[in-house]
Amino acid sequence: MDFKTLVPGAGGAAAVAADALLVVVGGESVPAALGKPLGAALQQALDSGDFAFKNGRTAYLTAVSGVKAPRLVFVHAASASPAALRKAAAAGLALIKAGGTRQLAVTLAGAGEPDAAATAEALVAAATDAVYTYRSTKPSAPPAPALQQVTLLCAKGQAAAAEAGLQRGRAIAAGVALARECANRPGNHCTPSHLAAEAKKLGKAAHTKVEVLERKDVEKLGMGSFLAVAKGSDEPLKFIVLRYQGAAKSDAPVVLVGKGITFDTGGISLKPGAEMDEMKFDMGGAASVLGTFRALADLRPKLNVVGLIPACENMPSGRSVKPGDVVTSLSGQTVEILNTDAEGRLILCDALTYAERFKPAAVVDIATLTGACVIALGHHRSGLFSPDDALAAELLAAGEAGLDPAWRMPVDDEYDEGLKSNFADMANIAGRAGGAVTAAMFLKRFAGKYRWAHLDIAGTAWRSGAAKGATGRPVPLLTEFLMQRAG
Ligand code: BES
Ligand code: MN
Ligand code: ZN
Repeated sequence: MDFKTLVPGAGGAAAVAADALLVVVGGESVPAALGKPLGAALQQALDSGDFAFKNGRTAYLTAVSGVKAPRLVFVHAASASPAALRKAAAAGLALIKAGGTRQLAVTLAGAGEPDAAATAEALVAAATDAVYTYRSTKPSAPPAPALQQVTLLCAKGQAAAAEAGLQRGRAIAAGVALARECANRPGNHCTPSHLAAEAKKLGKAAHTKVEVLERKDVEKLGMGSFLAVAKGSDEPLKFIVLRYQGAAKSDAPVVLVGKGITFDTGGISLKPGAEMDEMKFDMGGAASVLGTFRALADLRPKLNVVGLIPACENMPSGRSVKPGDVVTSLSGQTVEILNTDAEGRLILCDALTYAERFKPAAVVDIATLTGACVIALGHHRSGLFSPDDALAAELLAAGEAGLDPAWRMPVDDEYDEGLKSNFADMANIAGRAGGAVTAAMFLKRFAGKYRWAHLDIAGTAWRSGAAKGATGRPVPLLTEFLMQRAG
C-alpha cells in the first residue's frame, strides 16, 4: 500500500479526488474547519441520528453533494491522541475496506492539535492492519481489499512532519507484516530452517549481515542448555545472528535476542491438548527481531544492532531431555531441568551469554515466555522486566510512542529464591507464584555483564479465538526504541 500527504487546495477536503473520504472528527460540535459541504453533511447525519459525537460512532454516506469523493465516512475520535486516532481510523477503515475503494483520503477535524508525525504513523498502522490477510497456507482466503493508496490531508505547516511519520509508519508496518507472516505460518512450515531462510533474505539489505550457526557450531561453543531443548526434535536447530551496522564499527551495538521455539509441545513435560496449536506462535520473539531488522533496512538509523535467534522445536521423543536432567549452559552455570516446558529460558540463557561477545550497549530479549504473564497483564501490555531504570524508561516510552505498550514488572532478588536446586547451580522453574517474574529472574542470572531488559510477550504476540493470528508486536516498540537511541 502506498501512503502520501497532500495539502488540499481552496476547496478543502471536499474537493479532493479519491474513491472515499474518511473524516475523523473529534470534539462535540461540527468543526468549522470542515467547510461547507462536509459540515452540512455532518450536521444532517447528526440530525437524523446517523451520527453522534461518541467514541467509535461512524456514518457511511454516498454521493454527498459538493463532495468530490463518492463515498464519505465520518468517524468520531475520543481524543487527539495517536491511540484514539488509530482506533477511530480503524473503525472507519472497517466500513471502507470491503468495498471498491482504491484511493482513500483521510482528514482530521475538531480533534485539537494532534501531533502530525504521530498521527501519520498511527494512520499507517491502522490501514496496513485493516488490509492484512494471511494466505500463505490458505489459498481460499478472500482477495485482498482493493485499497491501494491512502492520502493524509494536512495543513501546509505540518506536511513535513506528517511525511516523516508516514515514513516511519511504513517501515514499522513492513516489519510488523513480516513478523505476523512468520508467526502465523504453522509449525510444519515455519521451522528453524525457515526462520534462518527469512533472516538470510534480510541479510541482502544494505549494512546488514546474517550468519547461521548449525548444531555442530553450537556444540563447539558449548551451548548445553539450548542443545538440551533442541535434541528431542528431528528438525535441525539454527542459531541465527543478524547484524545491522549503521554506525562506526567501534560503536557498541544494541543486541536483540528473540525466542525462536517454532513449536512448543512442552517436551516430556507435555502440554495438555487444548489450544496447543497456538504454540506455533512460540517464535513470536524471533519474529519480532526479524521484523525489526526489516524496519531497520528501510529506516537506516545511525546505530549498530545485533539480532540473536536461538531456534528449535520443543518435542517429546526418545532423545528428549528429561525432568531432573542437569545441563551445563554456555556461561558454565549448571541447570537442573525440572520442567521441560520451561524451555524458553533454556534457549535464551545461552543466547544471553553469547551476547557478551558483542560488548553491547544494551541487550533486550523478547519472548513468549510464560502463561503467568498472560494472567498478570492480559493481552494489552507486554511485561517489561529490567533492573535498569533508565533502560526500562526508554522501552516504556518507546511502547507508548509505537502504540505497542508495555508495563514494568519487578525483579527483586527475593523472587530468585525459588530457583534453588540441590543438584545444579539453579533449577529452571520456581513455584507457581509469580511465574513471569521467576522466569525473568532465571534470565537475569545470565545477563549480569551488560544493561539488560526482558519483554514477556506471551499475552501480546498473538490473538486467540475467532481473530486468531499474530499481531507483529513488539516490532513497533523495538523500532521506536532503536530510532530514539539513534537520535
Ligand atoms: N511458550 C510457553 C509460554 C506460554 C504459554 C505462552 C501459554 C503463551 C501461552 C512457555 O514455554 C511455557 O510453557 N511456559 C510454562 C512455564 C512453566 C512450566 C514454569 C508456562 O507458562 O506454563
Ligand atoms: Mn514451554
Ligand atoms: Zn515456550
